[in-house]
Order: sequence, then C-alpha cells, then structure tokens
Amino acid sequence: MLILDSVHTYYGHIHALKGISLTVNKGEVVTLIGSNGAGKTTTLNTISGVLPTRAGAIYFQDSPRSAGDGSPNARDIDIRLDRLPAHDVARLGVSQSPEGRKIFARLTVQENLAMGAFARSDPEGVLHDLERVFELFPRLKERLSQPGGTLSGGEQQMLAIGRALMSSPRILLLDEPSMGLAPLLVQQIFQIIREINAQGMTILLVEQNAQAALQVADRGYVLETGNIVLSGPAGDLLANPQVAEAYLGI
Ligand SMILES: Nc1ncnc2c1ncn2[C@@H]1O[C@H](COP(=O)(O)OP(=O)(O)OP(=O)(O)O)[C@@H](O)[C@H]1O
Ligand SMILES: [Mg+2]
Repeated sequence: MLILDSVHTYYGHIHALKGISLTVNKGEVVTLIGSNGAGKTTTLNTISGVLPTRAGAIYFQDSPRSAGDGSPNARDIDIRLDRLPAHDVARLGVSQSPEGRKIFARLTVQENLAMGAFARSDPEGVLHDLERVFELFPRLKERLSQPGGTLSGGEQQMLAIGRALMSSPRILLLDEPSMGLAPLLVQQIFQIIREINAQGMTILLVEQNAQAALQVADRGYVLETGNIVLSGPAGDLLANPQVAEAYLGI
C-alpha cells in the first residue's frame, strides 16, 4: 500500500533521512522503532507531505474508494505521494496522528473530532465513524464539550487518534501514541491499535517503546540516524540480540 524507495530528507544542510526504503502492505501493522533523533517523525512527515523529499520516491497504491460501489472499471490507485502537497496526501486517505498529542487545545473534543472529518462530504459516514471512535474511546464521548487542552495527557492522545480516524483513512500513521502515558494506559492504547487494525486499518506505527510496538506489529524496521539498519517480522526483531540490547533494555 505504501512504498518508500530510497527516500532522502533534509532540514537545510542536515541530512535527516539517508535513503530510507520500507513497505507497508494492506492490513498490516508495521512499526518503525528507533531512539530519539533517529528520524522517525521525519519519516512520517515526509510521507504525509509536510516535508519535501530531496531524492527517492514514495508510492501509494490502493483500490479506489468507489470499488465497493460496483464500478467494474475502477482502476487501482498508484500515485507518487512525494509529488503531492500535504493536503492532497491527506485527501487520498493518508492520515497522521502527530507526536505530542497535537490537538486543537481551544476547540472542544467534539470540534476536534469534526476537524478530522472536515474534508468529507458523506455525513452518514462521518456519523458512523464518530460512533466507532466513541466505541474505541468512551471517555471522549463523556467529554464532548470540554476544551481539548484541558483533557489529561492520555485523553489527548485518544483524541489525536480519534481525530485521525475521523478522516476515514486508508492508512494511519501513528507517531509515538504511548509517549508519556502511565503503564496501564500504554497497554490500553496498544490494545486499541490492535482493535483498529482488526477492523481492517493499515497502520504505520512509530514508537520508542519497541517492546510494545513489536508485540502488536506484523513487521518492523529499526531506524538509526537516518538509516534503516534492521528489518523483518516483528517476532524476529523481538528475538534479535542486537535489538534486545539497544531497544528493549535487555
Ligand atoms: N525542524 C528541524 N530542523 C533541523 N533539524 C531537525 C528538525 N526537525 C528534526 N530535526 C533533526 O532531524 C533528526 C531526526 O529528527 P526526528 O524528529 O525525525 O527524530 P525522531 O526519531 O522522531 O526522535 P524522537 O523519538 O525524539 O521523536 C534529529 O537529528 C533532529 O534534530
Ligand atoms: Mg519523533
């Protein structure tokens, strides 16, 4: 569904991504793990078009949304994301839940969720997805009129994920959803990621919590200072002594 082919990204002269290649297949949870400053957020921001690609290519392939409507001639989508502005990438169904729970602090929970759906023109689908978000995060339903900025850290993380889901994404990019959460809430968030995936969502999960991420993921990539240094099935990475030493604290 998503292919990064030797992607290079710079901040001015700083070479942040040095030729990253990775793939995410439809229905998978793929995790990108790495320490502070490895380039995880940079990778997600490059995919979503917030940062420009200096070299390499990013492809997005999917069946068209209308395929279920029975149009027999519907061709699969195969698009170079790196040539599109961020708003077009979002419109294709690539939705990012940003690092650090970047919700709209002054908007209410309800307004934040509505912002996630702002580009949609299917009110029935929006209502359906709202119900789904409330099922995943009952807490949000209890706090609809509360300003986002006054939610607890964990609740803000739920809202950031819920808002991303409200855009009815094809692929969800999650940037450290467990960051700063108490252990019990971390477990809950990873359980919810499992549930969202079980409902059919394709997910690229960026995490510093390598243990938990590899437990929910199908496959993983290890990023070190802008390079992918290891990749494979999540179980193999969990059992890899190099990963255990560097990322699992074993
Ligand atoms: N706006 C920027 N200007 C210059 N350098 C930047 C900028 N944003 C990030 N960098 C640098 O790019 C590198 C990768 O940063 P990035 O935010 O992608 O790391 P990360 O893996 O997400 O780390 P963390 O786990 O701490 O969030 C770092 O060396 C960082 O200092
Ligand atoms: Mg980051």
